[in-house]
Amino acid sequence: MRHRLILRNVTHAFEDGGQRRMILDALNLQVAEGELVAVMGPSGSGKSTFLSIAGALLEPTSGEVLLDGEAIAGQYKQALSDMRLRKLGFIFQSANLIPYLKVREQLMLVAKLGGMDKTNATERARELLRELGLDHRRNAYPDKLSGGERQRVAIARALMNDPAVLLADEPTASLDASRGMDVVRMLAEEAKERGKSAVLVTHDERVLPLCDRVLYLENGCLLEK
Ligand SMILES: Nc1ncnc2c1ncn2[C@@H]1O[C@H](COP(=O)(O)OP(=O)(O)OP(=O)(O)O)[C@@H](O)[C@H]1O
Ligand SMILES: [Mg+2]
Repeated sequence: MRHRLILRNVTHAFEDGGQRRMILDALNLQVAEGELVAVMGPSGSGKSTFLSIAGALLEPTSGEVLLDGEAIAGQYKQALSDMRLRKLGFIFQSANLIPYLKVREQLMLVAKLGGMDKTNATERARELLRELGLDHRRNAYPDKLSGGERQRVAIARALMNDPAVLLADEPTASLDASRGMDVVRMLAEEAKERGKSAVLVTHDERVLPLCDRVLYLENGCLLEK
């Protein structure tokens, strides 16, 4: 079976007031294609740090990350940002939309940067906006959207380039319960139908039945319970 996301012996330490604090300690994870893995753990346990390393936003102190079989380390800046665009969809806790672009333009921009042709991009954007219940908001600017709508645009944007790996850091925090379930259901479907490897950091136990595995970040490692 192919694992589109692999972390091997990933260790990360921060300097904290002159002291070295070990946040991740030889963490290992393999996520198979089609699999959605939930990661839980107390505040401050290192979930966002782990996700930033998996998503090539933060370099680990040591260890290795492989995206679709390709190592992140040692890539030149340009190659790394291309890799992020092609292979990674990142959904943050807050939407981080571009204020001067309309909803559909947010999606078209990442498609263009990722090298998708315009006809396909238009079709894909329309499909995602429909699935996320945003059709009627396609020409709105971010400041006219509700928090939940903004978050759904961010999700559509992360899915736009059909990335191999999908990483989401508490994406349902700003959504009501039923919207939250819809979003996680959609992430699970995207993983299944398009052979992605997906990781969802969450505090919401209600979404766990939609995930294939649940892991807990404890003492710098991911454990099954
Ligand atoms: N840039 C940094 N410099 C120093 N310490 C940091 C830095 N970023 C995070 N930390 C520390 O690392 C630990 C893990 O932080 P992280 O944000 O990964 O936790 P988390 O599990 O995502 O928490 P939450 O559930 O609150 O989002 C925390 O103690 C935090 O203070
Ligand atoms: Mg966090």
